[in-house]
Amino acid sequence: MATDYVAHRRVSPVTNTWLVAATIILAAQGIVAQKVRVEETLEAYPAESVDLRCQFVDGGGTKLTQVSWIWEPVDGQRDNIAVFHPTYGQSFPNLSFKDRVVFLQNTLENPSIRISNLRMSDAGRYTCEYATYPSGNEQGTTTLIMLAKPKNSANAVTVQVGSKSVVVAKCEAADGKPAASIKWLATVGGNHSMSTTNGPDGTVTVRSEYRLVPTAADDGKEVTCMVEQKTQERPWVQSLKLSVEYPPSVYIEGYDSNWYVGRSDVVLLCQATGNPAPSTITWTLASGPLPETVVVENNKLTVRKVDYSVNTTFICEAKNKHGASRQQLSTFVTEEERKMVQGPQTGAVIGGILGALLFIGLIVGVIFFIRKLQQDVEGPPKHKPPPPVKAGSSTEMLNKPSEPPTATETAPLSPGEVYYEPTGGEPVTNLDDESSGALNGGAPPVLDNSAREFNDAAAGHHNDLDSSNHELPAANISRGESFVSSAMYV
Ligand SMILES: *[C@@H]1O[C@H](CO)[C@@H](O)[C@H](O)[C@H]1NC(C)=O
Ligand SMILES: *[C@@H]1O[C@H](CO)[C@@H](O)[C@H](O)[C@H]1NC(C)=O
Repeated sequence: MATDYVAHRRVSPVTNTWLVAATIILAAQGIVAQKVRVEETLEAYPAESVDLRCQFVDGGGTKLTQVSWIWEPVDGQRDNIAVFHPTYGQSFPNLSFKDRVVFLQNTLENPSIRISNLRMSDAGRYTCEYATYPSGNEQGTTTLIMLAKPKNSANAVTVQVGSKSVVVAKCEAADGKPAASIKWLATVGGNHSMSTTNGPDGTVTVRSEYRLVPTAADDGKEVTCMVEQKTQERPWVQSLKLSVEYPPSVYIEGYDSNWYVGRSDVVLLCQATGNPAPSTITWTLASGPLPETVVVENNKLTVRKVDYSVNTTFICEAKNKHGASRQQLSTFVTEEERKMVQGPQTGAVIGGILGALLFIGLIVGVIFFIRKLQQDVEGPPKHKPPPPVKAGSSTEMLNKPSEPPTATETAPLSPGEVYYEPTGGEPVTNLDDESSGALNGGAPPVLDNSAREFNDAAAGHHNDLDSSNHELPAANISRGESFVSSAMYV
């Protein structure tokens, strides 16, 4: 029978409170001992079952006549749902519980019951009440809390580019108890609204709408809805891709300004973006129909053989349901290839200037590279004997300690990988100044924005604590010493 209890136990955190509760009540009431032991609170879900345990203790001189379970859905309404009499047997007077309640044991000392096929409306207070002689009625009450997992859903709303803030995504946690909370994680600008609706059975539906002023750049961006609720082990998360519709925009690419008579297979591409993707892309000439030497395949226009018929203006037009966009390109056909046409003098001058620029750029690049190389070699303290800490002046002592913490605050470092810039330290005298953390450029950002948002939301800023564990031992010893000793100088 005892194992039977365990097998049907519902929500674990509260199940073991009944002894504790009884003890507390005993202590509170002093001499007047609580004779009817029940659990204080139970939580359960619809469609499942719950065991309401009850036991009469210290039966010594007390004569038990009969026991009843009384249900109080709201204050003042008392419904008898189960009665046990040693001679007359079991009775279930309330119709709505009649087929759902059983006594787990057929004894007066342990009239525990099980209610199965639970409903949200079964929530309330359940009192195990004994009729005894000579002390009269004895009772104990259990509060049954009905919980409900929310039904979560989220969807993006297709919108058009515009200048007003509109709903672009929706998220809903329906019929939950207790009410769920909804959060949004997004890199696009915008805000959200929240609304709740109470269901008839004590459940709550929470809805949230994400709004922004939609631009073409927002199309395809992600927003994430996160639903948290007591009955969920972890937050429910769904990412949504925004759909912002906008008319096409078009540009022609591929023209190299070197169309000469006789050149073959030159290509122009009409690049068009839009949401929905442009359904039709058309090539035309400003002056009339396309010449015979031109072949069009989707957005690609090929001139098989360049002649003066393509010394003209090409137009590309893209359409979707929100509009059309066109761009035109004037081509200039020469008799001969352009590099031949160019005077040798002009070519030489241009070449000379370009060469000089290139040479200067190269030198600057080499200088930077060498400097960087030198810094990297001298940089990390592990390649260098520790600085003479004791010999340093007091200002030096003040300046140095600020370096290791700032190096590790901006981002978590993986073990064995320390970025440390000894020349980058600024004379920061306030050791507690956390805001100076961003000064050091040595530590690369490890998380991208969205991942960081998730981490922050889920775990808070624990990086600061972690980072101290990742410091190199070498850096710790030399720098750490001065860090400690600096306290004496301040
Ligand atoms: C949300 O943004 C819109 C415009 O983008 C603004 O009109 C509205 O007041 C904002 N609502 C809240 C709650 O900030
Ligand atoms: C090509 O077109 C340009 C105008 O775009 C015009 O000035 C030029 O004379 C044309 N060349 C020939 C050979 O038709």
